[in-house]
Amino acid sequence: MSAAARDRVALVTGAARGIGAAIAARLAAGGHPVVLADVLDEVDSTAASLRSAGHEARAIRLDVSDEAAVAELPRLLGGLWDRLGVLVNNAGISPKAEGRARRVRDMPADEWRRVLDVNLTGAFLVSRACIPPLAARRWGRVVMIASQAARTKSRIAGAHYAASKSGLLGLARSLAVELGPEGVTVNSVAPGRIDTPMARGAASGTNEAFLADIPLGRTGSPEEVADVVAFLASDAASYLNGATIDVGGGSFMP
Ligand code: NAI
Repeated sequence: MSAAARDRVALVTGAARGIGAAIAARLAAGGHPVVLADVLDEVDSTAASLRSAGHEARAIRLDVSDEAAVAELPRLLGGLWDRLGVLVNNAGISPKAEGRARRVRDMPADEWRRVLDVNLTGAFLVSRACIPPLAARRWGRVVMIASQAARTKSRIAGAHYAASKSGLLGLARSLAVELGPEGVTVNSVAPGRIDTPMARGAASGTNEAFLADIPLGRTGSPEEVADVVAFLASDAASYLNGATIDVGGGSFMP
């Protein structure tokens, strides 16, 4: 456990379950006080289980796409706000109809907008809100949870999802340029197929078909993504900025 981590509060969005919950747990185990933000009530019990394991963890209700709600972050975090050191933009949605993404020709514009609002604008809003405390201490880490769908074609995710995650990589690059001079790095993780509630929502046969393309021959676990995020959040990643790390068992190789 790093002594420095204790003074670097980590805010993780979409942390009630799945990859976000694993990231919060991994950062907490590394000594970071963690704030878990989510729209689901489940976020309370996820944070409570971290506290019962002896970690400092707080749950907040937050819809990352709600600009007014995001503006309340300093108040919601209270005394933790000035100690913010790590932001992980993980909240995301991937709407499916009977386990399959709608094709563009069948996609309602409202569904398109909602995915962009949560996956991309949400990360913009939360990142923008967090810049003042990160820049003030001249040390910070921002990590975007993108997707393999941002890196290559996807037969599982919808066009809105692929567009939002591709946009997230662009946002990360721009922020990396803007915040680098202030000591804040911005990097992205692009997970392949990870076993979470989101992935389990796919139509039967989808995950099995994906396996053929994964040299490691299996889906990944949320913890395997969390380990890479913890590395990016640490001092060990001090010279990584604007990078994207593919965590997919080799399913996508640039
Ligand atoms: P999940 O659906 O299990 O968890 C996503 C979490 O985000 C949920 O707790 C949900 O309530 C929360 N969330 C959704 N909308 C929100 C909003 N507006 N504000 C705040 N929180 C919100 O999904 P999973 O699999 O854990 O995904 C986490 C991230 O990883 C997402 O960004 C997803 O796109 C990405 N990802 C997942 C992959 C997978 O195979 N599971 C692959 C590539 C990327």
